[in-house]
Amino acid sequence: MPQHHQFDFLVIGSGIAGLFYALRVAEAGRVAIVTKKDAADSATNRAQGGIAAVLANHDSIEQHAQDTLDAGAGLCREDVVRFVVERGQRSIESLLACGVDFDRDENPASVDRFSFGREGGHSQRRILHHRDATGREIERALLACAERHPNISLFENHCAVNLISAAHAGAESSERIVGAFVLNAATSEVDSFEAKITLLATGGAGKTYLYTTNPSIASGDGMAMAYRAGATLMNMEFIQFHPTCFYHPLSRSFLISEAVRGEGGVLRTQQGDAFMRKYHPMADLAPRDIVARAIDTELKRSGHEYVVLDITHHDAQFVRERFPTIHEHCLQHGIDITKQPIPVVPAAHYICGGVRTNLRGESDLENLFAVGEVACTGLHGANRLASNSLLEAVVFAEEAAAESIARLPQSTFASKQFPRWEEGRATVSEEAVVITQNWDEIRRFMWNYVGIVRSNRRLERARNRLQLLKQEIDDYYWNFKLTPDLIELRNI
Ligand code: SIN
Repeated sequence: MPQHHQFDFLVIGSGIAGLFYALRVAEAGRVAIVTKKDAADSATNRAQGGIAAVLANHDSIEQHAQDTLDAGAGLCREDVVRFVVERGQRSIESLLACGVDFDRDENPASVDRFSFGREGGHSQRRILHHRDATGREIERALLACAERHPNISLFENHCAVNLISAAHAGAESSERIVGAFVLNAATSEVDSFEAKITLLATGGAGKTYLYTTNPSIASGDGMAMAYRAGATLMNMEFIQFHPTCFYHPLSRSFLISEAVRGEGGVLRTQQGDAFMRKYHPMADLAPRDIVARAIDTELKRSGHEYVVLDITHHDAQFVRERFPTIHEHCLQHGIDITKQPIPVVPAAHYICGGVRTNLRGESDLENLFAVGEVACTGLHGANRLASNSLLEAVVFAEEAAAESIARLPQSTFASKQFPRWEEGRATVSEEAVVITQNWDEIRRFMWNYVGIVRSNRRLERARNRLQLLKQEIDDYYWNFKLTPDLIELRNI
């Protein structure tokens, strides 16, 4: 039997945005966190580089704001940039209070508390990090707090299907969101989660592309659900390609952090020529979009499959201690990065667009908030500055939580006849191949036709194919019982 759950807050997604928001609002009511797989299976968990914030003695809010605006190619919202950058220090203090451990500056002569890394587009060292596994450390600390909190219930292996509006629940407004339908993978039933406030914290959509640094959960679920419910999405064309994804047939989505270039790593052709100075005065530390396009140009020119990233000039012990995760992963695949350059290619990494939100993280549907990669606040413009995403997630989770709590007493549960999922005459599909075939087709033409460099003709081709596939997927969706794969395919 499908279950009906009632909570004050429904949080969809368990990365930094969802967990941080949940911990804040749990002080005011009961919270459900639903997450597609394991709670720790998030993009946050893979973030290597760190979180940008102005804490170093030599740094300033003005410089961080300017770097963000420059990286965003003139399309950032300047008020949002200042709003976020000014809250950097407070966000770091909040994470420290949750038990997150950032690397300290061990030098007794230093005036700084932390060891700051540098990444592309930053004019200063300002990235707080936990060696090269910052996201994993943040996820560990926040999840431990959430699991201990008596007001938070965690639903793993629960895949959100659709948002529910007040109109579904028999009330007047279709603009008010009152919860979501969620597929419980263990029972294969679609349960209803009723909530006064719903937060989308579902991350990005990297799985739209054949090659991505994203985890398998990144199928654009929050954006798709919000769009179907009538919310506005913006800037969806601004897909960020990370310049340096590990190139290896058995490891397609492993990120080689920009922090490697921040520590002096140099991009070279397979012949050994350092090429970035030709493209930008900041050379290897140019903003990410410029580096990704430069690599794309070099690969097209040479016909090679990859370029290399060389950090061998550093002392081996420094490399092993600063980049233990990258060192270990590459070693397992036959590359000792202290002695050999790393083969790399660009891959889809981050979507700068998403559900349009204001400075409080509100979408344009009542009681629906969106925070993190799923949202578009205007901070990133056309291209996100490295390590600004974790910062944005904490700042807006904090703002959204304060607004949600302030609004809670006025929000009521939807109605006594809360809707149940109608399965109709759907049957179990015996043709799962349709899902894999469609998924592969989409990811391949997105990579080839909607990739790093685009043309109108290739975009037209992609659109024509998508229209056909959309119809096929919709038919499939209405006729067969839901599975997590089918939900993701429809969202993609
Ligand atoms: C990286 O470590 O290169 C990724 C950081 C980010 O995406 O901001």
